[in-house]
Amino acid sequence: MVRAVGLRKGFGTVEAVRGIDVEVERGEVFGFLGPNGAGKSSTMRMIATTSPISGGVLEVLGMDPATRGPQIRARLGVCPQDDTLDTELSVRENLTVYGRYFGLSRGTVRERADELLAFAHLSERAGARVDELSGGMRRRLTIARSLMNRPDLLLLDEPTTGLDPQARHALWDQLYRLKQAGVTQVLTTHYMDEAEQLCDRLVIMDGGRIVAAGTPAELIARHCTREVAEVRLGVVDHAEHADRLTDLGARVEVLPDRLLIYADDGEAVLAAAHARGLAPVTALVRRATLEDVFLHLTGRTLVD
Ligand SMILES: Nc1ncnc2c1ncn2[C@@H]1O[C@H](COP(=O)(O)OP(=O)(O)O)[C@@H](O)[C@H]1O
Ligand SMILES: [Mg+2]
Repeated sequence: MVRAVGLRKGFGTVEAVRGIDVEVERGEVFGFLGPNGAGKSSTMRMIATTSPISGGVLEVLGMDPATRGPQIRARLGVCPQDDTLDTELSVRENLTVYGRYFGLSRGTVRERADELLAFAHLSERAGARVDELSGGMRRRLTIARSLMNRPDLLLLDEPTTGLDPQARHALWDQLYRLKQAGVTQVLTTHYMDEAEQLCDRLVIMDGGRIVAAGTPAELIARHCTREVAEVRLGVVDHAEHADRLTDLGARVEVLPDRLLIYADDGEAVLAAAHARGLAPVTALVRRATLEDVFLHLTGRTLVD
């Protein structure tokens, strides 16, 4: 569905994408996970054929975006990072006007609009104006709109950024149902839980480069232990205490407010720490996540 080899994007002297290799297979949900400025949106715009590539190779649906842009766009659904709904129009009109761009008949447009309003749980709001909708509803409408042409490939740039937890879960459900229906999805996110929940495979991007690639489970297994013991020692310099714990796990990471000790048995680490006379203010054991993978690879947290 997408093949990139050594793909690059520059803006003057800024190298937003510095040579990435990516292959997206039919039917999968593929993610670009990375912090702000990693180059995710620049990559998405090239795949969406709205931004020319600066170097390397890019094929979308087996075609070259430089010469086959219109043919590619006819088969793409695009949800940009910022909502681009027409606020002058009603919810329903946003779908029908968009559908007409693709040259669909009035009857087809009406049918698909009904179907997608129901899918996005917006049937009751069909006559409302877009500026009356909540952020979550707008996002669901944007996704519904991107599906009007029954795309083979759906591109979603930060689909849940700025949404409250409930709206995020509603949207995840919408994307999950699309996956079940066989729609190939490429999405970007800076939320590791989102990537972990939604993506079959993903790449972690940082500074325009891919720093790791695989399934969420593979990435965690490759770069982390099974569990993480988190220890908060109160108002102290946590770095000064890291040495007392290093031998208890495979690795220790120091954050401003806590120490992370990576080990397959987190409870055993806590027990050993207590036995050494360490008295944490709080301590917990959790499963390792993609956030830990990112921290390990870059030395930084994803959402600062
Ligand atoms: N149109 C543009 N002109 C100049 N620089 C840009 C432009 N778009 C993005 N950049 C720069 O490219 C880098 C990557 O940005 P972007 O692709 O938006 O990252 P992300 O979506 O991961 O946050 C950033 O340093 C950003 O400032
Ligand atoms: Mg972005």
